[in-house]
Amino acid sequence: MSRTTKNYSSQSHLKGVAVLLLALLAIAPLSGCGPEKGAETETLRVGLALYTQDDTFISTIVQDLERIAQEEELARDIKINLSVADGRSNQTTQLEQVDRLITWGCDVLCVNIVDRTAAAVLIDKAEEAGVPLIFFNRQPVAEDMERWDQLYYVGARAEEGGILQGQLVLKAWLSDRERLDKNGDGILQYVMLEGEPGHQDALLRTEYSIQVLSEAGVELEKLGSDTGNWKRGPAATKMGQWLEEFGDQIEAVIANNDDMALGAIDAYGQTDWELPLVVGVDATAPALQAVAEGTLYGTVLNDAEGIARAMLDLTLALSGVKDSGDTVELTGDHYVWLSYQKVTKENLADFQME
Ligand code: BGC
Ligand code: CA
Repeated sequence: MSRTTKNYSSQSHLKGVAVLLLALLAIAPLSGCGPEKGAETETLRVGLALYTQDDTFISTIVQDLERIAQEEELARDIKINLSVADGRSNQTTQLEQVDRLITWGCDVLCVNIVDRTAAAVLIDKAEEAGVPLIFFNRQPVAEDMERWDQLYYVGARAEEGGILQGQLVLKAWLSDRERLDKNGDGILQYVMLEGEPGHQDALLRTEYSIQVLSEAGVELEKLGSDTGNWKRGPAATKMGQWLEEFGDQIEAVIANNDDMALGAIDAYGQTDWELPLVVGVDATAPALQAVAEGTLYGTVLNDAEGIARAMLDLTLALSGVKDSGDTVELTGDHYVWLSYQKVTKENLADFQME
């Protein structure tokens, strides 16, 4: 039998971050669970619960997942039924949806949890039903991840996203300071557009992007910092207020994700102010377009496709699908980590489709 090992965390090991021992684990299919085998074609039921469908990055993951599932169906002669539930940013709604997915008889649950501090109830439900649970993108707190051995988290390390984003700003500042330092005081005046409060990516990207700059000796002045809830519209509104207040004093806009960076760019479009340095995270299609146009200086690839691929590999391995000789590389028994990558005009071609 051929065994494939996919390494999702091949890149840089971060300074100052405890790197957990890598455990290479061949996941044994669970007994009493798994696809229906009576018929010729095995059918796998996958429950996919989203915090909301109204999120550019999350919908990219869903599209990738649907495409990869189709490829796997063809390659393995199986049927994969994906049932997608939109949590509409409400944890109570999502819990009800998870109940329904369990009743439907799903073999594996993939959950993008609304409130990442409320994972315990959901984990207990899955455990009671004996359905393996894969969280993704919204990371439960570490102690919840220890509640059961059939629990997984697939995502990218939040602090790594912040570090790479900080490096983008640093490089621009060091190489083009004359132009970027509008008031010539040697200090970088910036505003920070934060994601949803409490989200690991909002907290850690905000912290680490700035830490990289200050550790490199860049003098910083924060003019404003507020949440845009990951969204373009609210970020544009916030940026509009900052522009009224600070106008040309703003020398950089650091946004926790691309949608908010694009919102900031939209706000500049409503004024006569010249665009300062703007950076985001995700590398969504519209953000790559903005990098090409030169309005967005850079972004950090948040590997939607890698997340989708890893979730599906894990799902297939956990449900013991025929021919699935997959092994999935886990860190600390529960985690599959994807790497972030910096994107600027220089390497844009590597990330654009076609
Ligand atoms: C992405 C955001 C997204 C959020 C949703 C983050 O990792 O960068 O674009 O809105 O996840 O949970
Ligand atoms: Ca300055």
